[in-house]
Amino acid sequence: MRAFNIWTENFNMLYRMRFDNTGKIPCIACHSSPHAVYPAFNEFDKNRDNIQPLQYQGAPLPIGAEMRCEVCHIVKMDRRSFHHSNMFKAFRNKQLLK
Ligand code: HEC
Ligand code: HEC
Repeated sequence: MRAFNIWTENFNMLYRMRFDNTGKIPCIACHSSPHAVYPAFNEFDKNRDNIQPLQYQGAPLPIGAEMRCEVCHIVKMDRRSFHHSNMFKAFRNKQLLK
């Protein structure tokens, strides 16, 4: 089966075009571009595609993962699912970190 134009209704439904529940923060701001989602593995250098999260939060995970809300917020944030509810779960994809 061809995936092209089947998984998404239209262009604006593409991951790279979409935003979290605020409607203001693009998915790619926290998860990176479609072909290098954090933690991305680059065969030329393990963390070549993880420089942004390593620089801002010291871990190659999506921005804000494991309640690192202080990457963007200067006051302590509560657990309301404001950005999107997946954000409040522990990061799952740990085998990529080895
Ligand atoms: C403000 C930052 C931020 C934005 C914006 C954001 N996310 Fe997330 N997202 C996270 C964090 C942090 C996690 C939790 C860590 C993880 O599981 O990857 C997460 C988790 C997820 C997960 C679960 C991954 C798993 O394996 O359990 C999916 C799927 C996801 N996000 C998709 C999206 C999509 C699609 C958008 C845009 C519509 C988006 N996210 C926008 C930060 C964000
Ligand atoms: C990528 C940067 C980023 C990260 C990481 C992030 N936030 Fe936010 N957050 C924002 C921005 C930008 C706004 C303002 C959105 C708007 O103006 O609608 C916001 C707004 C909010 C608000 C609503 C405004 C308020 O002051 O009550 C809540 C609640 C919130 N975030 C919770 C969290 C929590 C909890 C986390 C950590 C799990 C988190 N955020 C991580 C950027 C971020």
